[in-house]
Amino acid sequence: MASGDESNAEMGPIVFRVNEMRAVVSAPSMERLSRVLRENLGLTGTKVGCDAGDCGACTVLLDGEPVCACLIAIGQVAGCDVTTVEGLATRTSSGAAVGAGLQQAFLVHGAAQCGACTPGMLVAATALLEKNAHPTESEVMDAIGGVLCRCTGYRKIITAVKEAGASIGQSKAAPASWPEAGAAVGDRLIRLDGARKVNGTDIFGADEIPAGTLAVRAIRSPFHRARFQFGDFEKFIREHPGIEAVFTAKDVPGKNCYGVIPRFADQPAFAEGEARHRGEAVAAVVGHTMAIEALEVSDFPVRWEELAPLTDIDAALATGAILIHHGRPDNVLVRGRVVRGDVAKALAAADVVAEAEYETGFVEHAYIEPEAGFARRVGDQVEIQASTQAPYMDRGDIAAILGIAPDNVRIIPTAVGGGFGSKLDLSVQPFLAIAAWHLNKPVRMVYSRTESIVSTTKRHPSRIRLRGGCTKDGKLQALDFAADFNTGAYSSWGPTVAARVPVHASGPYYVPHYRALTRAIHTNLVPAGAFRGFGVPQSAIAQEQLYDELADRVGMDRLEFRILNALDGSTPTVTGQVLRDGVGIRTCLEALRPRWRTARSEFAEFNLNATGPMRRGVGVAGMWYGCGNTSLPNPSTIRIGLKRDGRIALHQGAVDIGQGSNTIVTQICADALGARIERFDLLSGDTAITPDCGKTSASRQTLVTGKAAQMAAEQLRHAICKLAGACDCASIVFDDRGVTVHDGDKSQSLKLASLPLDAHGYVITSEATFDPPTSPLDENGQGVPYAVYGFGAHMAEIEVDTELGTVRVLKVTAAHDVGRAINPTLIEGQIEGGVAQGLGMALMEEFFPGKGENLHDYLIPSAGDVPPVESILIEDASPIGPFGAKGIGEQAVIPTAPAILNALHDAIGIRLRKIPATPDRVRAAIVGAQKSGGPRG
Ligand code: FES
Ligand code: FES
Repeated sequence: MASGDESNAEMGPIVFRVNEMRAVVSAPSMERLSRVLRENLGLTGTKVGCDAGDCGACTVLLDGEPVCACLIAIGQVAGCDVTTVEGLATRTSSGAAVGAGLQQAFLVHGAAQCGACTPGMLVAATALLEKNAHPTESEVMDAIGGVLCRCTGYRKIITAVKEAGASIGQSKAAPASWPEAGAAVGDRLIRLDGARKVNGTDIFGADEIPAGTLAVRAIRSPFHRARFQFGDFEKFIREHPGIEAVFTAKDVPGKNCYGVIPRFADQPAFAEGEARHRGEAVAAVVGHTMAIEALEVSDFPVRWEELAPLTDIDAALATGAILIHHGRPDNVLVRGRVVRGDVAKALAAADVVAEAEYETGFVEHAYIEPEAGFARRVGDQVEIQASTQAPYMDRGDIAAILGIAPDNVRIIPTAVGGGFGSKLDLSVQPFLAIAAWHLNKPVRMVYSRTESIVSTTKRHPSRIRLRGGCTKDGKLQALDFAADFNTGAYSSWGPTVAARVPVHASGPYYVPHYRALTRAIHTNLVPAGAFRGFGVPQSAIAQEQLYDELADRVGMDRLEFRILNALDGSTPTVTGQVLRDGVGIRTCLEALRPRWRTARSEFAEFNLNATGPMRRGVGVAGMWYGCGNTSLPNPSTIRIGLKRDGRIALHQGAVDIGQGSNTIVTQICADALGARIERFDLLSGDTAITPDCGKTSASRQTLVTGKAAQMAAEQLRHAICKLAGACDCASIVFDDRGVTVHDGDKSQSLKLASLPLDAHGYVITSEATFDPPTSPLDENGQGVPYAVYGFGAHMAEIEVDTELGTVRVLKVTAAHDVGRAINPTLIEGQIEGGVAQGLGMALMEEFFPGKGENLHDYLIPSAGDVPPVESILIEDASPIGPFGAKGIGEQAVIPTAPAILNALHDAIGIRLRKIPATPDRVRAAIVGAQKSGGPRG
């Protein structure tokens, strides 16, 4: 067992029991239990998401009661009994042995996505079920209420807990069986990486610490904008035993500049001379862990001179404003534009016109796993093992920063505890690479929650003005849309947001006359980047509310208005693309019709008879979203190898951030090859062993990597048939005896063991690349930006307390055209998680840089906030996608917020122009409306 600083007077030994084994640790008595478990005892199943009692990821049982291990001092634990996730399956002290059943139920129901919250959830649920095997839904919500999950939307967790309770004491269910060959697509296959997530053995960014590792800590600007000068580093190091080095911009061996879009790269690893946003790093201190942790940042020799920052769009655009980046006049990073028809003329001719302005704020990703990883130098190479969504992009940027060839950088993605777009950008990687390179020692960095919040990208704040018109029969005629996005101090994904929004701002409807102009504008705030939907959730909030206004003005039912205007295979999109097949929006909207009509009449009656402050409303919103990059190359490459033992190696480089690409790509590959799932050996995302599958973003992995997997599998199948001298119509059986080819009445077992191996070490290697067919957009944004779109529509039923201004979402019905549901359980998980994030965006989430930089003040939905979600899966097959499949990741979040906001208007006749609709804003709007005539109801 490792020990801490032997000179510390507060040292143990402290004796307690962990997972029914005796443990003895030497550590300061005030040391956090979470840290001792993870770093002294190697029980890294217990996760740390905040170190402040806010997230519950660190929940363990202390003498049978759930506690946050980050709030318990190890000195309090002496003589106690601690159970962590690693001990749940074998925990016998209660006599109930519920842990294993819970873990299995989590797997079967898809209750673990990224898995970062899963240990805490399982422990909290164990504590409940040991006392109450048959909890009600609200008892489950109470029990897990202190554990945050950003991925699942909680509903599958609640179902799993209830089912596990109900099956306590019953005979063990038979383990789930694998689907037959050819039947994997469409199967509710348990995620292939699921077992590691429920038993606590998955390795996340902070979970591995090579021997002799030094710690890295960034020194960051406390101001939105500041000049700075360094003092005497040698003296600082001399006076701080255990500190080994300080690195700044001067120590960057290559280019002190990176960015996710090379043409716009502008972000330094370390600021030079001036920090452009609060939280920007100016230096990194490296040393022994305890010295780094004990370091007072105020001791670091840097003198700050605070400068007047630009903190909003108007200030950045004002005449005479400072330029945050030279060469970007008016602080405009980039503009986007899509124009079709004559919007001014069409609006003038429209029977009805509505206009509005909406504002949304920064939204924090709030994944449960803060950024973390380690790096080491191996000769002329550097290896970085970190939590990332984009290993090959990381590789390119790190190579440029170090001034070495990309082949000399190896990126090994860990399990990713939630990303949602932010882990596409570099975080810990540059600091780790620079320190490991210079010191030739392993180094490790783990962001604190506050550091994660202040320094990493956010959803873009937006200000949207729009005007739309339709005929008196409700046919949309025109939309004039303009949006400014606050992109913060660096470009990150600002260009993508500015380009993607004009393509999508019409919504999934036929709008013959259209103009959408966007700008991404720099300010001295934290960079805004990718966050599930790349600006489309913001534009949908404005556009879907405007369409409700138009429907109301022509006296049409709001759902029927959308059905009337829905795109189909023959109507052109606003970029002039005619999609022909796989346009499922009308089907999605029609699927909502029965529930819509019922809710409309029930809620009208409820409101009519209401005597108290409660009012109910129902809202609907549609969505479309192009899968993959906008008019840019977007390839994925999959490699499959047939081994001598007949097993199949699948080199799958799409990072699974919880959405399930490890499983879905394997399902596609299996059916295209005709092999059962258990014949595959999965090799996931490591730039040394997997080809480039691109970044995990823009809902592209099922479509692009899945298609590459399908193609590679078909090629391998062809090669095997050829090897056997059989036709392509032959059937192939992969089993423990190897590979047998049946062609008509002939059968041949391949003698794989005696065949030579190729350069990849396989008998046959098959590699395929797929790049979705798109075309560049012209100066008016006309062309083919995406090969495939996903479609969907959500319906939200809500209740508003008009005295308190609070909004409770009662139910969301979510219809999504996914082309082909490769794995319905995983798709439902994406939908439910998207609904939860959309709910947060609509009602509670707004980040103000410099304030509330923690999960105590920045609130995300907890279990009690998320309503039942009914998912309706529509399969309008894409002719391009693998087995017809489309993406779902971003699609799921887009319609929720506008559906809720439309429901808010339906309930009380109020439209908030500033989102989120927090209770203070809702209440203020009610009071304001009362003064000017009174809100409805
Ligand atoms: S890490 Fe303990 S509650 Fe978040
Ligand atoms: S599965 Fe809950 S945070 Fe990811």
